[in-house]
Order: sequence, then C-alpha cells, then structure tokens
Amino acid sequence: MTNRRNVILGIGGTLALFGAGAAWRVTRVPDKAYQPWEKAGATEIDPRLDAFRHAILAPNPHNMQPWQIRLIGTDQAEISCDLARRLPQTDPFDRQIVIGFGCFIELAGIAASRRGLKLEVEAFPEGAGNARLDARPVARLRFVAEPGLAADPLAAFIRDRRSAKVPFDLARPVPAESFAALQAAGSDLTRFDHTRTEGDVQALRSLASAAFEREMRTPHTLRESIDVLRVGSDEINANPDGISLRGPLFEALSLLGADKVRAEAIDAQSDTTTRQIARYRQMFSQTPSFVWLTGLGNSRAHQLATGRSYLRLNLLATRLGLGLHPVSQALQEYPEMTPLFAEARRLCRVETGETLQMLARLGYADAVAPTPRWPLEAKLTRA
Ligand SMILES: Cc1cc2nc3c(=O)[nH]c(=O)nc-3n(C[C@H](O)[C@H](O)[C@H](O)COP(=O)(O)O)c2cc1C
Repeated sequence: MTNRRNVILGIGGTLALFGAGAAWRVTRVPDKAYQPWEKAGATEIDPRLDAFRHAILAPNPHNMQPWQIRLIGTDQAEISCDLARRLPQTDPFDRQIVIGFGCFIELAGIAASRRGLKLEVEAFPEGAGNARLDARPVARLRFVAEPGLAADPLAAFIRDRRSAKVPFDLARPVPAESFAALQAAGSDLTRFDHTRTEGDVQALRSLASAAFEREMRTPHTLRESIDVLRVGSDEINANPDGISLRGPLFEALSLLGADKVRAEAIDAQSDTTTRQIARYRQMFSQTPSFVWLTGLGNSRAHQLATGRSYLRLNLLATRLGLGLHPVSQALQEYPEMTPLFAEARRLCRVETGETLQMLARLGYADAVAPTPRWPLEAKLTRA
C-alpha cells in the first residue's frame, strides 16, 4: 500500500512539475510501434514481402518476435531464430518459441494465398536441436504459383487478430456452434478440445491463477518478464517488443523513471507483484470457456503444427467476434511448475505420449488494442 501511495504521490508531483507539458506526455501513444499493422495493408510488388508484412503480426511468446528472414532468389526465403530472443526460464526447451514460428509461417501462407501463391514449407531442413534450438534454419519457404488457388477467407481477419488479455463477459456464453467452427483448427498432429462445463471451467480458472502466481513468485521466471518490460511510449517505440505497459498511468510512471517501475516489479513479494496476481486472478475468473490444443507428440514438427493450428484458431475466433487469450504458465516445463503441469494434463485429459501445447481462455470482450511490432525491415536480409 505504501508503495502504491508513493507512486501515486510521485505521479501527482511529477505532473505538477511538468505542468501543461505533462498532460501531453501522459496521453501519448507509441504510434511508431503500431505502424507495422498499417503497413500490412500496403501494396508490395514482391509477394514475399507482402506475406512477411503479415507474418510479423503473428502471436508469439512475450512478443519477442524471434524471426530472422533471409530472402533467397526470387521465390524463396529461409526463416531462422534469433537465439537471443528466446525465453529460457519459462520455455527451457524452446517449445513455445517454435509454436510462435508455426503462427508466423501459417500467416505467411494465408497472406500468400491472396496472391494466388501456395507456400511450400520445408520444416527444419537441416534438422533441429531437440533440447534447444540452434543456428540451423527453422524453415525453408517457397512461394509457388498455383493457378486457380482461392484466397484463404481467414486473410480478412489478420489485422484484427489479438491476444485478448482482458476479462470476458460472463453473461454471454460462447454458443455450441462456435466450438464446432473452431474445431477446424485441428490437424493430423494436433487435437482441438474445449470446455464450457461449469465445474471444469472453474478448475481451469483456479489452475490458471495458481500457475500465474507460481511464475510471478518464482524469482528467476519473474525476472525474465521484467527484463522485457517496456514502460511508456519512448521505451515502446525504441524496443517494440516484450511486455509493453502503456496508457496514461505508465506514461506518467515513465516520467518518474522506468527503472523505478522495474525495481518494484522485480521483487516477487512486493505489493506490485501481489496486485498484479490479484488482477490476473480477477481476469481469469471472468472466463466462460477454455480451449486447448494437444500435440499428438512433442517433436519440433508437432510444435510447429500446433502454431499453425493456433493461428487458425485465433483467426477463426476473430471471425466469430470472440476473444482468445493463451494462458501458458501451467504448460511450462521448469521444476517449480511440475505439480501444476501435471494438474493441467489431468484437467485437459492428455494421454500418455501426448503434450498439452496451448491452453487459452475464450469469450466475448470489448475491443483490444494491437501490440507493438518491429518493422519488417529490421528482420530481413537478402542472400
Ligand atoms: C506459444 C505462445 C504462448 C503464449 N502464452 C501467453 C500467456 O501465457 N499469457 C499471455 O497473456 N499471452 C500469451 N501469449 C500471447 C502473446 O503474449 C502475444 O501473442 C504477444 O504479446 C503479441 O500480442 P498479440 O497476439 O495481441 O499480437 C502466447 C503466445 C504464444 C504464441
């Protein structure tokens, strides 16, 4: 409480000090960081650039955007991982990072279909590190003209897709026919499942809350998030990735010094951490249904396929006007999470040999703002 009062007094004092200028500062938005969402609509002569302008909008863990794109010749590209952009504390085997690449590749393919091009994907053409990713490419892509190929109808929803990190409307349950439509996101390697049964939903809400608290109270996993906090427009525009804190409160806090915010947030037992846990518990309690994707195995191919399925699930939900929000904490493979990991498998009826790859909240919510992105040019090289 004392901390909070100090921070608020600090904001008031800072605003008084900066006078009229402060009002302008606190209402700013990090426009530059959102430009890639606009640019995805621009006309491109090279269809690969068009595809990648869409692909960089993919959902991905902590918005680290680990992709590196190398254009080869006139119709190919190689995708590899910027190894410094992984999250080794919460994602020790790079499983979730690979899922993000699956989302990226699926988006590239959907966008390419608008130009009559089929995306041929050679996954891990030189093999893959199973314990950790390494410098070998994640995928080699070829854009192949296919006469008569129809544009994927999900292309229309790419720029409206979000991860809906907000409370959902409990008065508006998700109708049965929506789950039937979302079923299409499954594949040979990945099974789609859902629940909206009160007892099961309540158990998953509690699990999501407990797992979030476990991550926040564990110093090495908390630190991984705090290290990528971007507080206010200046930091977000300078590094349009990670966890971005925006809006008037955070603009004001950034005037006081973003390092102060980080210093308070990095303490696993601080008031700030406790408030954040309470806020998430409240958000999780406003969840009418959960969906999940179970990998029929856990190879790199299964993880990539899960990403492709998850991206389609996210776009299908967008088309239905539904918000989708991954809650991954209980699925993560670090020792402190082990009991909750086991509980997640039990609640989601995961069989021996299978892996729970994605778990997400689903429901109706108000509109959600986009998240920052690096421009395509920052991720692109030519052979
Ligand atoms: C594999 C994977 C796991 C994720 N896990 C979480 C999560 O546990 N909690 C969360 O709030 N968002 C999670 N996300 C969503 C990302 O934070 C989000 O995609 C990223 O911040 C970009 O935002 P956007 O999807 O709205 O464009 C996950 C995304 C992926 C691909």
